[in-house]
Amino acid sequence: MNEFLKNKKILLIIGGGIAAYKSLDLIRLLKKNECEVKVVLTASGEKFVTPLSIASLSQNKVYQDIFDSEKEAEMDHISLSRWCDIILFSPITANSMAKLASGRADDLASTLILASNKPIILAPAMNVRMWLHKSTQVNFHKLLDFGYLTIGPSIGEMACGEYGEGKMSSPKEIFEFIKDYFSERNIIKSKNLKALVTAGPTKEYLDPVRFITNNSSGKQGYEIARSLSKFGVDTTLISGPSKLKKPENVNIIRVETTEQMFEETKRVLPVDIAVCAAAVSDFKPEKYEKNKIKKDTINLNLKRNIDILEFLAKNNQQRPKLVVGFAAETENISEFAKKKINRKYCDWIVANDVSNPEIGFGSDYNEVAIISKSGEVIKLEKNAKSFIANYIVKKIINHFVQ
Ligand SMILES: Cc1cc2nc3c(=O)[nH]c(=O)nc-3n(C[C@H](O)[C@H](O)[C@H](O)COP(=O)(O)O)c2cc1C
Repeated sequence: MNEFLKNKKILLIIGGGIAAYKSLDLIRLLKKNECEVKVVLTASGEKFVTPLSIASLSQNKVYQDIFDSEKEAEMDHISLSRWCDIILFSPITANSMAKLASGRADDLASTLILASNKPIILAPAMNVRMWLHKSTQVNFHKLLDFGYLTIGPSIGEMACGEYGEGKMSSPKEIFEFIKDYFSERNIIKSKNLKALVTAGPTKEYLDPVRFITNNSSGKQGYEIARSLSKFGVDTTLISGPSKLKKPENVNIIRVETTEQMFEETKRVLPVDIAVCAAAVSDFKPEKYEKNKIKKDTINLNLKRNIDILEFLAKNNQQRPKLVVGFAAETENISEFAKKKINRKYCDWIVANDVSNPEIGFGSDYNEVAIISKSGEVIKLEKNAKSFIANYIVKKIINHFVQ
C-alpha cells in the first residue's frame, strides 16, 4: 500500500473503446491501495463494460446520465468534479478528445470536465490510424495546452490486429503514473525545486535582415518544461524563436540570440535543475554590420558562440544540482555525446540523431539515448516527444527523491 494514495478520491471516466475492460483492473488496483473510486461511464462505454461489474469493484454507484434526477440530487456534475482529487479518463476515445478539445458538454463526462478545477489525466486508446489522424493529433495537442496530463498511448499490437501507436497504457502503468503523481508531487513540492529549461533555436544576426539559425522547433524542450511543471517543479523556460504556445504553469522568457539566452539564464539562477535543450548556434558572425551587407561581399567570418551548457556546468558559485545537456548529432551519436559530457562537465547528455527526418528537429517524435556521467546509457526507442520528456523528467525526479 502506498501512503500517498490512501483516501485519495479518483473520479474515473470510462469511454467507449475496446480497452474499457482494462479499467476494471485499474479500479481493483486503486481500491487495493485504499483509494476511493467513483466511475462515470459514457453511453458508448456501457457497450464495453457493465455498470454492475464497475459498481461491484468500485463499491460505489456508477454515474451515466447527466439528467438522472435521482443521482443528480445526490451528486451532480459540479459536485462530482469537486469531490475528487483527480479525474482520470481511461480509455479516452478519439471522439471524447475531440469533444474536450472543442469545449463541448453534451454528456456527463464532458460536462463535468468542463466544470472541473482538478487535474485531469487522459489515457487515450484507439486504432493507429485514428490516433495518427491529423484531427486527433490537433485535439491531443490542444488538450496538452490546456494543461491536461496524459499517459500513453504506447506502440504495440492492437485489438483490431493492426500494429502501431494508439494502444492504451496497461492498468499497472496507469496505476504507477497516479501513484507517482501523488507521491512525487508531494515530495517535490516540499523540496521547492526550481528548474530552468532552454529550448528552440537561436538567431545570430549578420546584419539587420540576415541571420544564422537552425530548424529546431523547440518541441522537446517545451515538453520537458511542461512535464517538470506537472510534477510541481517551479519551471522557467527560456525559448528561442518558436511558434509553440507557452505550456501551462511555466514561466516563459522569449529571446532571439544566444547572447540574450545567456543573459536570461544568468538572471534565472540559482536553480536546482538545468535542462539545455535549445539548439544554440555554435557559431556567430565575427562582426555585426549595422547596415545590410552588399551582395558583392561573399566572405563570412564566424567565431565560436557562448556555450550556455558549459557555463552552467562549470559555474562553481551557482552550479545547478543537475545539469542536463542535449546533443543533436548526425553521426556517431553516442560517441560524441560521451565526449561532450566530459568536455562540458554536465551530468547527463540526451543524444539524438537529427539527420533522421522522422525524428528530431520539427518532428513530434524523437529517439534518444540518455548518457550519464557514470557511463550509464539508456536508449529510448522512437516515441512521441511528450513520452520522451516524461521519461527524462521522471528520471530527474527520481534523482531528487532518492
Ligand atoms: C467495437 C468497437 C470498438 C471501438 N474502439 C474504439 C477505440 O478503441 N477507441 C476509440 O477512440 N473509439 C473506438 N470506437 C468508437 C467509439 O465507440 C465511438 O467513437 C463512440 O462514439 C465513443 O463514445 P465516447 O467518446 O462517448 O465514449 C469503437 C467502436 C466499436 C464499435
